[in-house]
Amino acid sequence: MKEKVLIFSGAGVSAESGLRTFRDMGGLWNEYAVEEVASPEGWAKNPELVLRFYNERRRAVISAQPNEAHRAIARLEEFFDVVVITQNIDDLHERAGSSKVIHLHGEIVRARSSVDPNLTCQLDGADLEIGDTCEKGSQLRPDVVWFGEEVRLMRAAEKYVANAERIITVGTSLTVHPAAGLLKKAKFSSEKYLVSVDEMHPPYGHRFLRGSATMVVPHIVNCWIAGRKP
Ligand code: APR
Repeated sequence: MKEKVLIFSGAGVSAESGLRTFRDMGGLWNEYAVEEVASPEGWAKNPELVLRFYNERRRAVISAQPNEAHRAIARLEEFFDVVVITQNIDDLHERAGSSKVIHLHGEIVRARSSVDPNLTCQLDGADLEIGDTCEKGSQLRPDVVWFGEEVRLMRAAEKYVANAERIITVGTSLTVHPAAGLLKKAKFSSEKYLVSVDEMHPPYGHRFLRGSATMVVPHIVNCWIAGRKP
């Protein structure tokens, strides 16, 4: 029986693939007002602006490539039972080869009916425009979780965290709830590492390893595969 590994990732794991984070220097929330582009109110007020915001980010995701951190996480699957829980809406974990990825905040490469959240479709790289409708005739929106909306995958995610024997938390400021509270469910006995370029106070028994995702994550993965402590 392979040991259960849980990867909890945020925007920092995709930063070295050229995708912007939210709260760093040059982050998205330094340029855009969250409530205008990532909330139901913003969508109701100016859907064109919201669609433009996500179309620009989707094009960046499509032209980005997975980095050494994504690839090291995918490599873990040969040796461990791995689940990736990500706050990211990009598909770089999947494109690196991870086969079990839970997107707490949705997926930018998918669209959703604005009247039925269960009605979703793959966008295959296309932009989303006003007039693009679902089979029920309602306007399609990005299949992402906006501020104030329910994170429907939280219960499932909590179970994976609670069962994990090893955890790597990488590239997240741990400031957005309920996602940030996920780690509370981790077993005391699990081996936990928090990876970030910025100094952070490691929560819930994590050991903090400062550095970039593409340096530190492959280091942890190589140690685990060799049966060593990072
Ligand atoms: N390697 C490791 N860590 C990095 C790197 C890197 N190359 N670059 C940045 N980081 C770290 C930053 O230090 C920061 O702690 O990644 C973190 C990114 O934090 P945020 O920008 O807040 O992103 P995230 O935590 O994923 O945001 C959570 O907020 O706006 C919402 O829905 C959005 O899912 C997002 C959520």
